Amino acid sequence: MIMTIQANATNPLFNDNKLKLGIFGYNGNGPQMTAALERFVAEWPRSRNLAALAAELGFEAVVSFAVWRAPIDGDGRHLANREFEAFSWCAGIGAAVDGPAVIATFHAQLTNPAFVAKAAATIDHITNGRVALNIVAGSSRHAFGQFGRDIEDPATRYAHAEEFLEVLKRFWVEQDEFEFTGRFYQVRKGVSLPKPLQAPHPPIMNAGLSDRGRRFATRHADLVFTLLRDQEDSWAPQIAAYHNLARTEFRRDIQVWTHGYVVIGDTDAHARAYLNSYAEERADPVWVKAWVDELSEGMPALRPEQLFVMRRNWAAGGGFELVGSAETVARKLIGLSAAGLSGFLLTALEPEKMLRRFGAEVMPRLEQAGLRRAAHALIKGPVG
Ligand SMILES: Cc1cc2nc3c(=O)[nH]c(=O)nc-3n(C[C@H](O)[C@H](O)[C@H](O)COP(=O)(O)O)c2cc1C
Repeated sequence: MIMTIQANATNPLFNDNKLKLGIFGYNGNGPQMTAALERFVAEWPRSRNLAALAAELGFEAVVSFAVWRAPIDGDGRHLANREFEAFSWCAGIGAAVDGPAVIATFHAQLTNPAFVAKAAATIDHITNGRVALNIVAGSSRHAFGQFGRDIEDPATRYAHAEEFLEVLKRFWVEQDEFEFTGRFYQVRKGVSLPKPLQAPHPPIMNAGLSDRGRRFATRHADLVFTLLRDQEDSWAPQIAAYHNLARTEFRRDIQVWTHGYVVIGDTDAHARAYLNSYAEERADPVWVKAWVDELSEGMPALRPEQLFVMRRNWAAGGGFELVGSAETVARKLIGLSAAGLSGFLLTALEPEKMLRRFGAEVMPRLEQAGLRRAAHALIKGPVG
């Protein structure tokens, strides 16, 4: 028997929009690694207002990130280090903004299941059942360093995250005291009240991309993230491979999402020119190099042309390229949905401008294609 996705009625991640939408990374400065002066900088009112704008458009998700500090050595003042802590930020956003799910990101190794069980339950109560968790198995040497921790090898880090989830779920569902003795965790007389509102527990997101990471994601996550490239014929088989893995190995249904940067211009050429201006001419080479160097630690050396493409992609914001006229951007999203994609997290250099334009020019096309209901027609979960 395949376990169908737990469709918590209060959580918009399970509404009936065919293509779900979210924003990503605005508890920090957003993922664009550029020195462009017009860039987003994380201030509380600005990030709250941005989430409110996403809610107005009927978006399903506001996803935080957890990087803790940038991997740039010797420059503590660099803007890239600026980031609000994800659980606190999600609680604030969830209280201030009704509508989207708030997704708190954390590294299994840098926290503890007893803490996360309560933090998530607290946000679930604050938001009337709209919290979700993005569990990261942890690969940033710099983030771990300031906790006095070394990063683990890939197999150990996913075994660790797996045990973390096992204990977390015990805290969420056990009605009586429980004991746990494992490789990474010991719990003596474990109790966590209140339980989250969402039963049996809030949804889990994971973006593991390695073979081990994908197995972890398809086994445990409701929202699984993949990295898609611009070759249209690769989308459907890649997305289907995740569903097949989840169904055949773990008897589960999942949603497959991706993320990427958005530039909408009057024409494709205008959009591309603007992309080049912030992601090439005004890219922050120190930030991009430090980031890519850390990501590629322990990996085989990249050829210069691969390195160029990777650096340019990260300067632009990382992930899929949604760049062009509103028509082009909508066409790509409609194609991704036809290939089986469940959701897309959007990022942009100036996310407010992008969202306004996206709402005015792209959303009507998505609605017309039957991928989304108009924001005001969305089925909302029960209130109060
Ligand atoms: C949409 C998305 C969000 C992510 N958020 C974070 C994050 O906030 N912090 C972090 O350290 N890693 C984050 N990651 C990294 C993934 O959790 C994962 O470690 C990475 O994709 C590499 O896969 P692997 O662990 O299987 O090698 C994110 C990845 C994606 C695609």
